[in-house]
Amino acid sequence: MYTDKVIDHFRNPRNVGYLEDADGVAQIGDPRCGDYLFLFLGIRDNRITEARFLCRGCPAAIACASVTTELVTGKHVDDAWMVSDEAIVEALGGLPEEKQHCSNLGATALHAALFDYFERRNRQEPPPSGLDRPEATDEQRD
Ligand code: FES
Repeated sequence: MYTDKVIDHFRNPRNVGYLEDADGVAQIGDPRCGDYLFLFLGIRDNRITEARFLCRGCPAAIACASVTTELVTGKHVDDAWMVSDEAIVEALGGLPEEKQHCSNLGATALHAALFDYFERRNRQEPPPSGLDRPEATDEQRD
């Protein structure tokens, strides 16, 4: 069963919407279930000032996207890069075993949006964790 935090973020999702002139954007889908997430980051001086999302997905996916925007707002991009799917699950007080994968949508979109930002700025140095760029599958690109 879902935690109170998951239910709260699902019923009252934070930071829903589109961010015009976003500095980092990602569209990630899960081909297994068809859920997808758009994430928009506003970044000033390497710090995330705004995060917005649009999601078509299950309650867990919506809650994960919502809490991801809360976790990263105000963070330096290098610290935001370290936000993992485990951190997202922890921030929600846990997810049922069969819903653990839903957190991947938030974390993958976050990393893809940060990569988009790094590419736009022609950032030379790699992100601190050494993680590779999230690769979209053919289904995710559609
Ligand atoms: Fe697809 Fe939750 S069931 S992300």
